[in-house]
Amino acid sequence: MRTGVAGRGAPRGGQRAAAPTPSRAQRPSRNLGTLVRRGLHQNHEDHDRASGEAFAPGTLDDYLRRLEAAAPSPSSPSSSSGPNLVHLVGTGPGDPELLTLKAVRLLQTADVVLYDRLISSEVLEYAASDALMIYVGKERGLHTRSQDEIHELLYRFCASGKTVVRLKGGDPYVFGRGGEELDYLQRRGVEVACVPGITAASGISSALGIPLTHRGIADNVQFITGHLRGEFTEEKLRELANKVAFENTTIVIYMGLSSLPQMSRELMDHGMDPETAAVAVERGTMANQRTVFAPLGSLTEMVEDAALESPTLIVVGNVVTLCPLWRERRGEEVADKDVQKEMKEKRAGGERGTGQKGEALLQ
Ligand SMILES: C[S@@+](CC[C@H](N)C(=O)[O-])C[C@H]1O[C@@H](n2cnc3c(N)ncnc32)[C@H](O)[C@@H]1O
Repeated sequence: MRTGVAGRGAPRGGQRAAAPTPSRAQRPSRNLGTLVRRGLHQNHEDHDRASGEAFAPGTLDDYLRRLEAAAPSPSSPSSSSGPNLVHLVGTGPGDPELLTLKAVRLLQTADVVLYDRLISSEVLEYAASDALMIYVGKERGLHTRSQDEIHELLYRFCASGKTVVRLKGGDPYVFGRGGEELDYLQRRGVEVACVPGITAASGISSALGIPLTHRGIADNVQFITGHLRGEFTEEKLRELANKVAFENTTIVIYMGLSSLPQMSRELMDHGMDPETAAVAVERGTMANQRTVFAPLGSLTEMVEDAALESPTLIVVGNVVTLCPLWRERRGEEVADKDVQKEMKEKRAGGERGTGQKGEALLQ
């Protein structure tokens, strides 16, 4: 027997894809579940920030214990009549219109949704109003939940008979630790169904009009991480640069903002032309997207001037010159000068701007 929440807006099991934008009238009304959702979200975050400990008494752990006690059989997904399945769902780079129909349907039918930092509120809106929403995001210097805790939460909710959706930005299996969740759950007898999402590299580049491969310009594309933490040392970054710094290659760097100075230097030291076109895209595909276009040799400086923040994706390769914005910039020398003059004046007045060197463009 399931312990699921009543009043769903869409059929379970999904014989047909649900409409991607359900009207409010079709959505379940707010009930106790909403209160649970708000209460738990608030409490566990506050607790974790205060003490760094998992499962504060009186909050999520208590709730889970009650669920487990109410589960019909021993809390093992393989022995209960619960779903025995966790959905790992990719949400794409941010624009909610880039969600798949399958992602929307699963969100509408989930009892419990565990979501990351990069999931926009517009995407979360697709969850039923009585779904339990658990924020498990990680950002520099602040991990709301450790990866082990996330594994355990996924397992315990599934074992309690809940329909569990684990939402991940982009694609779950591209720099998203989805593989670790898959591995953990499978080892504990839980099936995992993955809904692919559009990964930042392809979603953001395509939306900007940058083909990642192009005959005569790029015959291969490399997705790499610039994340400089833990076992990922400067030495590793150097090795990585050595592996990817080739002509006719497009390099897409995830999590590369903080290591951009080292990475761009390594790429050039390993043979990349400083004139290679590049772009850094902050909050790609979202309404407040910002871009900095510059040759590799001046990208770091331009990005620093623009004070881009995470999430930022970096694309290095001459395919960037095919982007209409890059070409537009090149064709508007006079306008550029005017913009640069204006920025110079603003900077003199204490405002941050796009900088004056290279081909930087902020949108
Ligand atoms: C932990 S990785 C997750 C990648 C994700 N699984 C995917 O397939 O796109 C996070 C990094 O992806 C990139 N990223 C994801 N979404 C982005 C966005 N909307 N704008 C810019 N960069 C993004 C950034 O480099 C960010 O630091």
